[in-house]
Amino acid sequence: MRYMPEPFKIKMVEPIKMTTRAEREAFIRDAHYNAFSLSAEDVYIDLQTDSGTGSMSDSQWGAIMRGDESYSGGRSYYRLIEAGKEIFGYDYVQPVHQGRAAEKVLFPLIVTPGQYVISNMFFDTTRAHVGLAGGRAIDCVCPEGLDSGAYFDFKGNMDVPRLRSLIAEHGAENIAAIVMTITNNSVGGQPVSMANMRETAALAKEHGILVVIDAARYAENAFFIKEREAEFADATPLEITREMFSHGDVFTMSAKKDALVNMGGMLAVREDGPLVDAIKTRVISFEGYLTYGGLAGRDLEAMTTGLYEGLDYDYLRYRIGQMQYLGARLEEAGIPFQNPVGGHAVFIDAGKLLPHIPYDEFPGQALTVELYIEAGIRGCDIGSYMMDRDPETGEQQRAPFEFTRLAIPRRVYTQAHLDVVADALIAIRDRAAGIKGYQITWEPKVLRHFTSHLKPV
Ligand code: F0G
Repeated sequence: MRYMPEPFKIKMVEPIKMTTRAEREAFIRDAHYNAFSLSAEDVYIDLQTDSGTGSMSDSQWGAIMRGDESYSGGRSYYRLIEAGKEIFGYDYVQPVHQGRAAEKVLFPLIVTPGQYVISNMFFDTTRAHVGLAGGRAIDCVCPEGLDSGAYFDFKGNMDVPRLRSLIAEHGAENIAAIVMTITNNSVGGQPVSMANMRETAALAKEHGILVVIDAARYAENAFFIKEREAEFADATPLEITREMFSHGDVFTMSAKKDALVNMGGMLAVREDGPLVDAIKTRVISFEGYLTYGGLAGRDLEAMTTGLYEGLDYDYLRYRIGQMQYLGARLEEAGIPFQNPVGGHAVFIDAGKLLPHIPYDEFPGQALTVELYIEAGIRGCDIGSYMMDRDPETGEQQRAPFEFTRLAIPRRVYTQAHLDVVADALIAIRDRAAGIKGYQITWEPKVLRHFTSHLKPV
């Protein structure tokens, strides 16, 4: 498959360190085989996340110089609000410092303890904030999303028939909200179709249930709709985005992904009303005054410019093209991954690549360690290692899949870097049978994957 050439040239570079295998073996051992504990300087290609790790453009850096740092009513704030209205069509747009800040402000306002919140799949922090607000989170992704080997255009979709039966089972009054995560990060950055968004929104409306869009990767989702849903073949990513957001009542957004900034987020409400007043009160307590929301004026400028750049068709074609190029190289080599590739990452099916490692010895983590030792590449486990223990029995929970996620930062790595990744995976595949699983030697009670210590079994 042809690599889609970059629609930009490089104006500034950041050197990265080359290390030897022996050095990497020592670094990862000293990090207790936890890639989060590595020093980023010792990583050659960092695919741990696409969040806040992108390169800003010269326009964004230029906009930063125009940041208005007034405490209230700054010019940069009004520029962001106008962009938010134009792109998303929402009455109220609130900047916050990142995605989880929007979640922290919103969920206690919409969830009554004991209520359910249903999503096509929650991202960890969203699930955590539903729980902290006393809600119960239910994942409801379409069955195709869970079958990594089988191609399906929209693996991120909501399972609408199951959603309907969940509403019937629990009663609409016990469902605080439906959360549409676009793209669906946890099943592999998989898109949600417009047809599915329409159907979900119609069902929610029929039952008077609030629809929240978790919008971190809105532009990548719009691109997939353009490519894969015939009705939208001639629509621009911006036009598609407008319709997608018309199917939600509220959105939370981490702007660290498609809005191309290193820090930032938004919380927006389609129609002005009492929810907006309640949001304002919480924002002032947690994030700062309404017109800066935990960000500097210059951050607001970079975010506004980034919101538009993220929707540029040539950029999106190159961006998704990077995933597809890496996916094609892996397919050629017979390396299993969530097929098709997602918008921001390639999810390697470590469960299939390392079938001799049981789930409670963490195949996704074993592959993460091996990729680091092989070529200094840092990915992360999205599998049973990432699951905390059952709070009642203390038993290791089993994830529906054992993935190693390779998230590609935006506008950062080149084709040659992606070839290094593919070659490393091929080398690992050739010696897969000798790769060992891991056991945890120390762990905290929650979100253990960030800090726990491991050792090879
Ligand atoms: N929602 C989704 C779908 C996300 O992927 C993330 C972050 C958040 C919300 C939270 O946003 O980090 O700005 O507070 N995802 C990153 C990742 C961390 O690596 O996938 P945040």
